[in-house]
Amino acid sequence: MPISQRTQVGIVGAGPAGLVLSHLLHLQGIDSVVIENRSREYSEQRVRAGVLEQGTVDLLTEMGGGERMKKEGLVHYGIELRFGGKGHRIDFQELTGGKGITIYAQHEVLKDLNNARSAAGGQTIFEAENVSVHNLNTSHPKIRYEKDGGAHEVICDFIAGCDGFHGICRPSIPPGVIVEYEREYPFGWLGILAQAPPSSEELIYTYHDRGFALLSMRSPQISRLYLQCAPDENIDDWSDERIWQELQIRLSSPGWALTEGAILQKGVTGMRSFVAEPMQYGRLFLAGDSAHIVPPTGAKGLNLAVADVRVLARALAHFYSTGSQSLLDEYSAKCLRRVWKVQRFSWWMTSMLHRFPDENPFDQRRQLAELDYVTSSRAAAKSLAENYVGLPLE
Ligand code: APR
Ligand code: PHB
Repeated sequence: MPISQRTQVGIVGAGPAGLVLSHLLHLQGIDSVVIENRSREYSEQRVRAGVLEQGTVDLLTEMGGGERMKKEGLVHYGIELRFGGKGHRIDFQELTGGKGITIYAQHEVLKDLNNARSAAGGQTIFEAENVSVHNLNTSHPKIRYEKDGGAHEVICDFIAGCDGFHGICRPSIPPGVIVEYEREYPFGWLGILAQAPPSSEELIYTYHDRGFALLSMRSPQISRLYLQCAPDENIDDWSDERIWQELQIRLSSPGWALTEGAILQKGVTGMRSFVAEPMQYGRLFLAGDSAHIVPPTGAKGLNLAVADVRVLARALAHFYSTGSQSLLDEYSAKCLRRVWKVQRFSWWMTSMLHRFPDENPFDQRRQLAELDYVTSSRAAAKSLAENYVGLPLE
């Protein structure tokens, strides 16, 4: 017999979605247990994106535990789009009425959230094995897992599937319930973390004949840079020297220099757009990457995950205070409206800035016209800025 435990909301996955949800529920007096298959150390060190929309920053701040983000996060009020070797600034502050974004790494967000959960006596079970979900269509769905050789089960009122794209929650929904919309891109990003002061105060998104490049950062001492590459690019083919050489070529601009430094970490990620509809089956609610993936151009993944769980936490709080399922019933449709707008934006930024293997000269001219338009028309720049800083949360 498994060791059995009872909670109100069982959460699978201790990424940004799972941890933010758990803490928001706690603040409303709702009990939850988070089940995660990796170790805490692994998730707190894994390098991922690092751009937080104003709405995400505000929510993390309101939840408490945002002090380090306030202190160490870098607030930016614009980005540069670079093409034809020339830079063009998109001024977020002016175009959005004062909004900006904050650069603060996802794994730092996770450290803060884990600390906030621990301080509040929250229960996160790390290194859980063979996690599975059951009885999704009943009033008491169940999570099973193994830990240190023992079998465990958590009996819940609801389950939140916050276990990312490769998790087990979405595949546990019976076939035929969910429609999946997907687009894979014929390229990936080679990303590095470098011990080098960022060569620009703001992010630089570059369109170049040889492919896209991005200059980002993590701190005044650490740069984060990306290069468009093949989706199955072998990282072993890229010596540090070759990486810097390629970055120098793609980012080059008269009167500007890219500072190099020791490469601390490097890796290749593929790019896809993916949406699962609806984001609910019975008492299982999908949130974050388990329900949708965006390509990284524009760095929307974490922000979208946070927007989902904000809606879910409210709907659950409404259920526990009134007994009404009405907001839970609206969860999927409400989230998907935002999800599709963010999908559109991430696809658009990606399409505008990358070279496509099957493109013809018309496509290339069109991309350059798009960049010219977005950097010369106030209406077009305003649309980019509005999406980049984050569409309003409902
Ligand atoms: N059982 C338990 N936990 C699991 C399982 C499983 N079978 N499979 C995956 N997980 C865990 C992962 O180890 C990870 O900690 O679920 C968590 C999912 O976290 P993320 O992948 O970070 O997804 P999410 O919380 O939705 O956040 C979205 O993360 O993927 C990035 O760029 C994306 O920034 C975006 C954000
Ligand atoms: C990052 O800093 O990791 C980053 C920044 C902007 C993006 C994607 C990733 O669009």
